[in-house]
Amino acid sequence: MTTSELRYPVSEAPTNQALADAIRDYWNSHIHDLEIATHPVGTKGFFDELDEYRFDKLRYLPQLLASERYRGKQLLEVGCGVGTDLVRFARAGANVTGIDLAETSIDLARKNFAQNGLQGKLQVMNGEAMSFADNSFDVVYAHGVLQYTADAAGMIREIHRVLKPGGQAILMVYNKYSWLNALSKLMKVDLEHEDAPALRKYSIREFRRLLQPFRQVRLAPERFPVISRLHGGLKGALYNQLFVRAFNVLPRALVRPLGWHLMAFAEKHVAEQQGNHATA
Ligand SMILES: C[S@@+](CC[C@H](N)C(=O)[O-])C[C@H]1O[C@@H](n2cnc3c(N)ncnc32)[C@H](O)[C@@H]1O
Repeated sequence: MTTSELRYPVSEAPTNQALADAIRDYWNSHIHDLEIATHPVGTKGFFDELDEYRFDKLRYLPQLLASERYRGKQLLEVGCGVGTDLVRFARAGANVTGIDLAETSIDLARKNFAQNGLQGKLQVMNGEAMSFADNSFDVVYAHGVLQYTADAAGMIREIHRVLKPGGQAILMVYNKYSWLNALSKLMKVDLEHEDAPALRKYSIREFRRLLQPFRQVRLAPERFPVISRLHGGLKGALYNQLFVRAFNVLPRALVRPLGWHLMAFAEKHVAEQQGNHATA
């Protein structure tokens, strides 16, 4: 029996099959940001549009994804969707692997890589029970995934397991106490994918607790208001003309804890690896 089998016995592996099936079915029919696309799905124009929209909205991301420090590294993205971020990591020189529960996502991610003339290993796989060996990757990235999975703690254990000692996990969940969550409740406007079969928002404290397998974690709230292309009418006008402007006048240091995206940078240390073997 391998150490990973000892550490993750079947009884502790993701359980609720019905929920896992519902999550997969939902994401097979709800491609993230699809509503913005005007080009036929799967074309170069389609992927370019998704890329442009995403990085206009998530202004903190391009710099992170294009970092030279990923060059030559083994990088895994869990829940890669259509591969918008993974394409950027690949362009930055990382050797990339992308997995997703949804077949539609992996299908489109393969097209995205082909349209961009890039190489990447793309596979349908559950991030809560990965088939990769222990200590396989230098970087594991999961952006907007833990909050939609059935067993987030199980996914974190798996991410920790497949990371090499010295490797880094880069993760994002939604902030329960953010400007966007409060605004959506106040204005009675649903957030994207609020109807997903599993969705959990985290406080900073809850996110830290989830990241317990990692001893060294840095958290950074990100994602502040930008003009919305999706919301029209009176509510859209109030948001775009008033709220975005007023919020962005406030000192960022003051409002930072209210960022919608809680980014975590978690390091796996050699001692954590030894610790796990000792208790296995
Ligand atoms: C909101 S989308 C985010 C996609 C992409 N990371 C992005 O930021 O555009 C959530 C993705 O997580 C995937 N997902 C949810 N649970 C998963 C799991 N257990 N294993 C792998 N992928 C999962 C879904 O299929 C979906 O593609």
